[in-house]
Amino acid sequence: MKYLVTGGAGFIGGHLVKLLLDRGETVRVLDNLSTGSMKNLEPVKLQERFSFVEADVTADPMLVEREVAQADVIYHLAAAVGVELVVNDPVRTILTNVHGTENVLSAAAKYTKRVIVASTSEVYGKSANAMFSEKDDLLIGCPTHSRWSYACSKLLDEFYLMAFHRASRLPGTVVRLFNTVGPRQTGQYGMVIPRFVAQALANRPLRVFGDGSQSRCFCHVYDTIEALAALANKAEAVGQIYNIGSQRSITILDLAKLVIRQLGSSSEIEMIPYEKAYESGFEDMMHRTPDVSAIGSLIEWHAGRSLEEIIADVAAEQQMHR
Ligand SMILES: NC(=O)c1ccc[n+]([C@@H]2O[C@H](COP(=O)([O-])OP(=O)(O)OC[C@H]3O[C@@H](n4cnc5c(N)ncnc54)[C@H](O)[C@@H]3O)[C@@H](O)[C@H]2O)c1
Repeated sequence: MKYLVTGGAGFIGGHLVKLLLDRGETVRVLDNLSTGSMKNLEPVKLQERFSFVEADVTADPMLVEREVAQADVIYHLAAAVGVELVVNDPVRTILTNVHGTENVLSAAAKYTKRVIVASTSEVYGKSANAMFSEKDDLLIGCPTHSRWSYACSKLLDEFYLMAFHRASRLPGTVVRLFNTVGPRQTGQYGMVIPRFVAQALANRPLRVFGDGSQSRCFCHVYDTIEALAALANKAEAVGQIYNIGSQRSITILDLAKLVIRQLGSSSEIEMIPYEKAYESGFEDMMHRTPDVSAIGSLIEWHAGRSLEEIIADVAAEQQMHR
């Protein structure tokens, strides 16, 4: 099978590409290297079944169409990602996430190609449900808060995919990824675990935003990519949405304490009000636990790797590059 992975030079993409190649598939990556890097493709770049095209999914629809036409399966991961990037550059977020996906989906619909689009737990918005399920109503914040532009742009991607599925039988699937973490993720764009680990390893204060009572569930990227790879061959997944994430919930304050303890660091914890960390009036989701029963019963999957394993893997990788 020939796979096209847009955003394949990114954190999740790089790992997915390696897994697919390890399974004997042929993989082409399309990426503009904005938040991604060729370093993420270092382990695979010399493989014969691997190729790379540097391109922007928003800028050149004809090129995107040609690439899609030559693939059997497309993973569309290219997106503007990360809370800081989204808050600081909402226009780029919307353009990339809406027009880029539009280009990929139109081409996939034209050639009836299997396509899996990465969406996000952010689409659940401010919902206070204890657990988020794919059929839930969604509660996005007001457009005056630029943070919601990411959720809204990804949600439009989901509607696009469903519309193409209905109108032209596009064999598409949406995956809503919850916090995915692991080696090679950069803390540069607001990702909490790589940032905490770097701060703890340097014995610098761990900066907790807000009062730290907001909780998250962290999924090892190796678990995430196994789910992504399994989905491509499932006919039942066409026209469906799946949550992918861990169900172990931890507050950000407890996460900071765990990182310090596990890494034997002498770091302190510094509390930073949201207004100082992001923009005035910044809104956050308090809790974010996925219902993963749908993906679990489809492919017998659950996030098997522990949070401690994630922290250890991220720390080992950062220590290697110090
Ligand atoms: N990491 C997470 O926790 C998480 C959570 C929810 C959803 N997701 C989704 O998973 C996907 C991958 O995220 P990631 O964490 O690997 O982020 P990432 O930033 O490492 O990967 C995104 C990749 O897309 C590329 N890209 C960005 N704009 C592009 C454009 N216009 N044209 C071509 N390439 C472009 C970047 O260079 C990068 O390689 C994204 O769609 C993201 O929204 C990730």
